[in-house]
Amino acid sequence: MTYYHASSIIFLLLASVVDAGINALEARQTTCQLHTIPGISGGFRDREFVDFSTVKAGEGDVRSFLSNYGITLSNYPVSSTPVAHDFLASNVAFGDGALNLKVNAFTGSSVHSSEIITTDKLKYASVRTVLKSSPVLDIVEGNFFYLNDTQEIDWEILTSTVSKSSACVPAGIWATNQAVIPGQPSTHDIVEVSFDPSADFHEYRIDWTPGVSAFYIDGVQKAKLTTNVPTNDGYWIWNAWSSGDPCWSNGPPVADSVTQIRSIEIFKGYSEVVGNATSDCVSGTSLVPQVALSPSSAIEKSGAVQTVTWNSIRLLLLAGIINSLPWLMDVICTHIP
Ligand SMILES: *[C@@H]1O[C@H](CO)[C@@H](O)[C@H](O)[C@H]1NC(C)=O
Ligand SMILES: *[C@@H]1O[C@H](CO)[C@@H](O)[C@H](O)[C@H]1NC(C)=O
Repeated sequence: MTYYHASSIIFLLLASVVDAGINALEARQTTCQLHTIPGISGGFRDREFVDFSTVKAGEGDVRSFLSNYGITLSNYPVSSTPVAHDFLASNVAFGDGALNLKVNAFTGSSVHSSEIITTDKLKYASVRTVLKSSPVLDIVEGNFFYLNDTQEIDWEILTSTVSKSSACVPAGIWATNQAVIPGQPSTHDIVEVSFDPSADFHEYRIDWTPGVSAFYIDGVQKAKLTTNVPTNDGYWIWNAWSSGDPCWSNGPPVADSVTQIRSIEIFKGYSEVVGNATSDCVSGTSLVPQVALSPSSAIEKSGAVQTVTWNSIRLLLLAGIINSLPWLMDVICTHIP
């Protein structure tokens, strides 16, 4: 009788441990969904949402906040012409409800600028940045993919020329794939806008998938480039700077400038084939989407198949434990005096 009770308790303990393990696995498997985007084949495993809407000026540590999302502050000089600029970590700060990228008024040496960059490389992504452009002239506001000068996709607002041309720069917001072969021309579109980007927040988005970079403002496609599309993994960068170049930024700026970012949303972990649940989900760092794009029905179906598989494994394991009960009792009888 005593032996029987001891083995029952051991059995129940083992069963619940096995069960908990399987439940954890199941949870991880079945929460895996691909985020799909209309018009794009395949989908994205991971979504990162960096929300600055509740931050307060002077409160909290920007560096550690961003590091939670795999983003760091840049701090390095750039020998641009005619005026050098440098990215200062101290020029990135929280404002009220936004991340502020500051560019200082030019004082004669280097234009103090600001930049943030992902720590990890990504290959293919949909990145949506909600920002309010600076009202100060002579600033370049970049939101872009970058590995090197031949693997780069830019969405750039030039505050001097966003709504009117200068002698050297036509009006509009620039959508560019830099040339993949050094010295060749880039592929670009200059998107005319009917609103003042410094008057309010708008979503600027790039969808980069094999062979295509598509550019959106507030969810509306404004440009689609299919040549010079990068093929290597690289970083995402957001910055604000000026080099005084009359054929690009203009300036240098005569007043302090602030570009405000309210949120950054990154879809990454691209999978060309929607429905390959084994390869897409088992590596599983996927999050349950907070704002789901249409989840792939194929993945949902294979999720069900996986649940069935896990239930079968659970049964087999339980059967194994029950079968080993006589052995367990034997062990207990031998070792408990
Ligand atoms: C950029 O990186 C790619 C991939 O490593 C390489 O093939 C290419 O030569 C690089 N371009 C430049 C300008 O360094
Ligand atoms: C699913 O992924 C595996 C592992 O990456 C691969 O071998 C297989 O060909 C893929 N199946 C389909 C249908 O793409």
